Parts: sequence; structure tokens; C-alpha cells
Amino acid sequence: MPELDVVTGAFSYTGRHIAEALLARGRRVRTLTRRPDPSHPLATRVEVAPLEFDDSLGESLRGADTLYNTYWVRFERGETTFDSAVQNTAALFGAAQRAGVRRIVHISVANPDANSPFPYFRGKARTEEVLRAVGVSHAVVRPTLVFGPDDILVNNIAWALRHIPVFLIAGDGRSGVQPVSVHDTASICVQAGAHDDDVVLDAAGPQSWPFEDFVRLVRREVGGRARVWHSPPRIALGVARIAGLFLSDVIVTRDELDALEAGLLVSHEPPLGTDRFDEWLAENGDTLGRTYTSELARNFRV
Ligand SMILES: NC(=O)c1ccc[n+]([C@@H]2O[C@H](COP(=O)([O-])OP(=O)(O)OC[C@H]3O[C@@H](n4cnc5c(N)ncnc54)[C@H](OP(=O)(O)O)[C@@H]3O)[C@@H](O)[C@H]2O)c1
Repeated sequence: MPELDVVTGAFSYTGRHIAEALLARGRRVRTLTRRPDPSHPLATRVEVAPLEFDDSLGESLRGADTLYNTYWVRFERGETTFDSAVQNTAALFGAAQRAGVRRIVHISVANPDANSPFPYFRGKARTEEVLRAVGVSHAVVRPTLVFGPDDILVNNIAWALRHIPVFLIAGDGRSGVQPVSVHDTASICVQAGAHDDDVVLDAAGPQSWPFEDFVRLVRREVGGRARVWHSPPRIALGVARIAGLFLSDVIVTRDELDALEAGLLVSHEPPLGTDRFDEWLAENGDTLGRTYTSELARNFRV
């Protein structure tokens, strides 16, 4: 009987690619998700259990060798807060420890910091502390900006460059981005799952650009016509909020703009990812950003 791994979010974005990589290695996969989806391509290939942070976790994790945790929230809304996401993550790790899970691979973010001004990055640092304290063999994988099919962030930049006359860059646009493919991210996770030592790895791609150059590259490859202008962050945020009303979404948050400006979307380690963003873009520019993908619709109205 092949070994069983548990992956949060196999019907969503990064978790899907982790699940596919594990299945390709001949492992069994159980996913924890809020959205059992019989029409999903993986639906017949993985077991499904609820992504609920209560007593059911013990049963959901029973028999698992490795837990791959992608669970997190992009921003706070209603009762969804970064504090509650940290508590839920702690419940998940505690249940994994009690269930005898051999190893936990936790997807964090590049440049987490317990003293960060940004709650997302502070919260991620706290989840890493919780993981260290739980005493299970573990790997922390810290992605920069993940690109690939079904992504939200890069897709919506491309959407804006196609559909809106002016793309506003908050600030000078010189802060870097170092995108990593979802495929590389999943490979780094699955390779880390196969070992026993405690490690912390950045998941970053081989290329980086100042954000303005990145935007112009995306514009060129998708054939967008938007003019690229600079504005103070509060103006860019205000425009994004108004556009968000029409799209019923939160397009970008102040913290995300400030984190970009602070240079947190780059790694300071030799890159482990090998997929080149420019090549992926050249292959996928025709379809990237044709439709808008709403974070609220995907992750908050489940
Ligand atoms: N995407 C990026 O560019 C990026 C960059 C750096 C770090 N990361 C980190 O990588 C991990 C995976 O990111 P992803 O973009 O691939 O995420 P995702 O697939 O959209 O979601 C990952 C998991 O979190 C759950 N989830 C997402 N939003 C939620 C909400 N509002 N309330 C409750 N549960 C929620 C999903 O539940 P369902 O299974 O029900 O869908 C899924 O299990 C995250 O920890 C993220 O912080 C991502």
C-alpha cells in the first residue's frame, strides 16, 4: 500500500500542484478542503476530508506520513483574521503531532518576521514558531510570488493591463519581484517532504525584476494597452478600492503594496526554482488575464 500524505487545498492553487507531484511519485493523497468538488480533475484521485480546525482533524490526519500545509488567508475580512489563521494552523500542527504524522511541510512566505509591520508576514512568522515548538520533523518553504495556471495575483495584473486604460504603480516601482513557478514551488515542497531534517527553504525563481519592469514585461506579452503611470500609494489604493467595488473584490491591500515597496517579494538566497517567468509568460501570454479572478469569490465566499 503506498504511503498516504495529507495536503491542504488540493482543489485550489499550490496544494493542487503538490498533490499532483505526490501522486506522480506513487503516493496516496488525502486533501483537507472547504470545497469538495466532484468535477475537479483530482477529485477521483484523492481522498477528501473537511478543512475544519476542530476535533475532526485527528481523524482527517490518521495514517498520514507527511502533512503539506498550504492553509492561510490573504487578508483579514469579517471573522477571518490573521490571528485566527495562526490559531487554526496551530490546531492543525497539534493534531498532526498527536496523530503521529512523521513530517510537516509548511508553506510560509519569503521574509516572514515576528516584528514585521505587516500582519501577513508577522502571522507567518508565528506559524513557523508554532511549528518549531510542536516538535515534529519539519520543512518550512517560503515562496516569493507564485505564478502559474489559476494564479490570482499575476493574472489580475495582466487583466488590468488588458482592460483598464491606466495601470497605476504605487511609488517608484523599483522594488523587486522574483516570481517562482507553482510547479517549482510544489517540487521544492515534495522534495523537502522526503527528508527528515528540519529545514527552512526559500522558494524563489531564477529571475527578478524591478516591479515596473515586471509590469511592462507582462503588458508586452499579453498585448495590453494600459499606460503605466506612477502615483502615491494612497491614490493607487483608492483607485483599486473603487475598481474593487465594480469587481466585487479586494484587488490589493495597503499592506500588500507596502510589502512590495519594502522589497519582501524577493529572496536573498540562491534560487531553488528553475522555471523562467519570461518563458512561461511568452507561452501563456495569449490567455493570461483574459478573465478577472476574484479572491473574494474564490476564498471568502466558499
Ligand atoms: N500565491 C502566492 O503568490 C504566494 C506567495 C507567497 C506565499 N504563499 C503562500 O502559499 C500558500 C498557498 O497559497 P495559494 O495562493 O496557493 O493559496 P490557496 O490555494 O488559494 O489556498 C491555500 C489553502 O488555504 C485555504 N484558504 C485560502 N483562503 C482562505 C480563507 N479566506 N479562509 C479559509 N481558508 C482559506 C484554501 O482552502 P480550500 O482548500 O478550501 O480552497 C486552501 O486549503 C499560502 O500559505 C500562502 O500564504 C503564496
